[in-house]
Amino acid sequence: MNELVKHAREARTHSYSPYSNFAVGAALRRKSGRVYLGCNVENCSYGLTVCAERTAIVNAVSDGARDFEALAVYTEAKHLTPPCGACRQVLAEFAKDLIIILANPKEERQLKLSELLPMPFNRESF
Ligand code: THU
Repeated sequence: MNELVKHAREARTHSYSPYSNFAVGAALRRKSGRVYLGCNVENCSYGLTVCAERTAIVNAVSDGARDFEALAVYTEAKHLTPPCGACRQVLAEFAKDLIIILANPKEERQLKLSELLPMPFNRESF
């Protein structure tokens, strides 16, 4: 198993997901190799839920990190879990060339953020 995936699996153990029972872990690696973790944090006002990917990037940026190279997303769902549209947009703010590794206990797949979000809204858009 990829090292970053192991970190995402560890992050998943902190998931607060009593409403969906769908635990997600994310691990974001910056160019220096430092890894930041995130899990999904749900709320009884459902729309306030924060996905694991956004938890990880907010955690990293608030620590001064902006140079990201890879993100792993780990769930134990039957099918791999790609980041939702909102998370793709937030990730693209900092790293349009980000490598994304999707993983579950049986499978890993690597893609680029630019494949998942080929035409992000960005600062050149306005
Ligand atoms: N979720 C994530 O954390 N990341 C994703 O990429 C997809 C969805 C969370 C949000 C919510 O807590 C649960 O999964 C079900 O949607």
